[in-house]
Amino acid sequence: MLPISSTDRVFILCGAGVSAESGIPTFRGVGGVWRNYRIEEVASPYAWQRDPRLVWEFYSMRRKVASAAKANPAHFVLAKLEQTLGERLFLCTQNVDNLHEKAGSCRVIHMHGELFKSRCDTCHRPPFDDSHLYEPPAEIPRCPCGGQIRPHICWFGEVPFGLNQIYAALDECTIFMAIGTSGVVEPAASFVAHVRGRARTIYVGPEHPANASSFTECHLGNAGQVLPRLFGP
Ligand code: OAD
Repeated sequence: MLPISSTDRVFILCGAGVSAESGIPTFRGVGGVWRNYRIEEVASPYAWQRDPRLVWEFYSMRRKVASAAKANPAHFVLAKLEQTLGERLFLCTQNVDNLHEKAGSCRVIHMHGELFKSRCDTCHRPPFDDSHLYEPPAEIPRCPCGGQIRPHICWFGEVPFGLNQIYAALDECTIFMAIGTSGVVEPAASFVAHVRGRARTIYVGPEHPANASSFTECHLGNAGQVLPRLFGP
């Protein structure tokens, strides 16, 4: 078990590995999403300009996979941890699925956006809940302002969401844990370097991430097995 004192503040950074045991493919590695799709063709402002239907086809496919997925023990352990620690837990995920919420987490920062939300590509109308599958030959839906409705996702070349809140929480945390993330995508890959020397830094996943040297501890194994050991079932 991981000792957490009453003054500790815990920052958790999740990556695709947390949802792997729910059947949602990771991005890199065998069977990864980026083995079958080119990032610049489906997940970039350039892709949206060039072929918005292809972009919607990609996110509709991912909506289908995610809507069939169930939360796994890793999500449930983190939801329980929120109940125990309250505000002293900051849960930040790079995942766009809603499995943390399905497991009962209430305060999740989705720094790369949310798969089941859309927004206008032109005006500042807030993102809205949307689980439609926009598959051809459907037209790209339009906002009343005339703009096109796009997925509420942070694409490559765009700025992640919630960075002010995230850096404030990093500055306060005493325990930093990254789970199931390969440590190659910025800025998330550098969060551990931001807190190193000040917070206990822990990695959980089946293999060492690219930024492993910045962690004081690596617990190798699947999140669904390691997290119940660290935090209780
Ligand atoms: P990656 O696909 O790069 O890495 C997934 C990590 O999960 C790998 O290090 C695996 O070892 C690990 N893993 C696999 N199964 C696991 C399990 N059962 N338990 C724990 N870990 C496991 O995914 P991310 O690092 O999340 O961005 O990728 C970061 C970002 O790159 C994504 O949010 C996405 C992607 O391009 C956008 O789309 C903006």
